[in-house]
Amino acid sequence: MNDVFLRRESAREQAFAPIWSNELDDVFADVAAYYDRANTFATLGLIDRIRERFLATIEVEAGQRLLDVCAGTNVIGINLMRRQPGLEVFAADRSAAMQAVGRDLAGRHGLRIDSTICDVHHLPFPDNHFDVVTLQYASRHLRVVRVFSEVHRVLRPGGRFYHCDMLRPAGRLTEELYCAYLKVCLAVVSHAFRSNAAAMRCRDYFVEAIRMFYSTAELSDLLRGLGFTRIVGTSVLAGTVGFHRASKA
Ligand SMILES: C[S@@+](CC[C@H](N)C(=O)[O-])C[C@H]1O[C@@H](n2cnc3c(N)ncnc32)[C@H](O)[C@@H]1O
Repeated sequence: MNDVFLRRESAREQAFAPIWSNELDDVFADVAAYYDRANTFATLGLIDRIRERFLATIEVEAGQRLLDVCAGTNVIGINLMRRQPGLEVFAADRSAAMQAVGRDLAGRHGLRIDSTICDVHHLPFPDNHFDVVTLQYASRHLRVVRVFSEVHRVLRPGGRFYHCDMLRPAGRLTEELYCAYLKVCLAVVSHAFRSNAAAMRCRDYFVEAIRMFYSTAELSDLLRGLGFTRIVGTSVLAGTVGFHRASKA
């Protein structure tokens, strides 16, 4: 792994480790009940269209085993199982509250997703176990080198990793406009949904986490450095969101 990434990972770790360890679980415990509604509200439905676009990039077949890392309320697993009922879906997330909402949502569609409550820096699954791994809207909260290495380990040779997150736009002006928009959005949403104290305290963190994160091209380099092959990175909305598809050789 290139030294630049290791230095940047160490800077992210220094800046955010206390929030990652002590605050995020309280934030998601509060947010779980309104997470999906708040996202749709804050983006005026744009997030649902972006998700459709991301889902359209994911190829799955009946009988395959898929792991959704940081699955939250199971939106990815539910959508993919509805498209391909023969798919076996596993969800991993540290938040029991987010997964409880996800279990109810899956149940309403008559679906069962196998849930594991864990810290995804140590995935409790064997090597070469999954055909497909997905990770949406969480990697900026993670030690991403560690988690992508874990994803690589649990994928079978030939398996595919699909990633989507809010990223740091490559251009300075876009970054400033985007961060200003996010600050306003977070202020409106936290008041509209009466967020708890932890979520209020983390509002600045949600913006800073993006400022210190990677661009689409940088994440492609990182995946390459970890041994993934056939990497396709796609910038969406001027690089504020990025999709990645990568294979294990
Ligand atoms: C913004 S939500 C995204 C949820 C879902 N993937 C989606 O796209 O709607 C981030 C999720 O990551 C989970 N998460 C954050 N850090 C984690 C960690 N270290 N281990 C496991 N889950 C974590 C949170 O509990 C939360 O459910």
